[in-house]
Amino acid sequence: MIQKADRLNEVKEYYFSKKLREVAALKNEGRPIINIAIGSPDLAPPLNVIEAVNNAMQIPNVHQYQSYQGIPELREGIGKFYKDYYQVDLNPNNEILPLMGSKEGIMHISMAFLNKGDQVLIPNPGYPTYASVTKLVQAEPILYNLKEATNWLPNLEEIENQDLSKVKMMWINYPHMPTGAEATKEHFKKLIDFAKKYNILIVNDNPYSFILNDSPTSLLAVEGAKEVAVELNSLSKSFNMAGWRVGMVVGNSKILKTILQVKSNMDSGMFLGIQKGAVEALNLTKDWFEKQNKIYKKRQALVWKIFDALDCSYNKNIGGLFVWAKLPKGESAEQFTDTLLYEKDVFITPGTVFGSNGEGYIRASLCVSEEVFKEVLERVTTVKSKL
Ligand SMILES: Cc1ncc(COP(=O)(O)O)c(C=O)c1O
Repeated sequence: MIQKADRLNEVKEYYFSKKLREVAALKNEGRPIINIAIGSPDLAPPLNVIEAVNNAMQIPNVHQYQSYQGIPELREGIGKFYKDYYQVDLNPNNEILPLMGSKEGIMHISMAFLNKGDQVLIPNPGYPTYASVTKLVQAEPILYNLKEATNWLPNLEEIENQDLSKVKMMWINYPHMPTGAEATKEHFKKLIDFAKKYNILIVNDNPYSFILNDSPTSLLAVEGAKEVAVELNSLSKSFNMAGWRVGMVVGNSKILKTILQVKSNMDSGMFLGIQKGAVEALNLTKDWFEKQNKIYKKRQALVWKIFDALDCSYNKNIGGLFVWAKLPKGESAEQFTDTLLYEKDVFITPGTVFGSNGEGYIRASLCVSEEVFKEVLERVTTVKSKL
């Protein structure tokens, strides 16, 4: 048997990749599983976005390789989007790099900046990809605590009490997944000061700005942020385009040039039709988000009812594509979600997927219809006594 690479020794298969096989097996047995675990928007992008892709099929060079940096129209669209919604000025020539989803950016940035043995500050709880990619490039994840008591914001004092001499990068993600917590400009300012003090590259992963959130905020809106920070963003959740794979990294031109050094060796440009569709999406006005959020608001209210039925507590002032809830005291997240899966045919995410600080919590996504949530409510209400 050919030996796998050492870099895989500490990287497990992605939780959902494994768990979805288990869910598929249950479905094959005829079980009516409802999946409210995953944040893959079920709603469609607007019609004009889809039309733009269809129309692109008539463009003579549509089937050819495209620019490694995306078409100028897309970079300009991203620039206008950042100006309109985040009040951030970006130069479309060198401060914007379109990506095929923000997830690939996590790998590109890590490959561009991390050497073996470098340390990376990673939120606990947080998106699991930050730690696994760090391990894949043979750097070392240093988890920092996010706690409910401090609104899931980094405790910089606690972080500064550690030896930071090997830390080269820090991942932050606000609005935060899985908790939905938000950071203000003041919080971002403190993080930028911290990054400057310790010469750390700070990356804000920002794909959830527009879901049940009235005040989209960018790390780059802080003065001087571009010296030490870049930001990832994505059309996946904002425009229901998760499967299209369109994201971006924006900020410091020198940092972006270094990322392009990796990226240009990995892909050969994004399909033109997708880029044209993305341009249309980025041009949508605020009422697009208002329309989406009306739907999400109704779903969120149903999830709250589901969590009430399960005796879980949650914060009604928090938005986002998920509802993060605290389990009754002493409950284990994985046991609780497995009981729901095997006894109620409802698949929901245990908080431990996002790190040890997720123990005692569960996460539901808002990506199914009201009818489906009503069915979940019925199932959990009738079986509550068993859980
Ligand atoms: C925090 C966070 N970052 C990045 C991503 C990846 O998004 P994209 O579809 O842009 O690759 C996700 C997807 O679920 C996410 O939750």
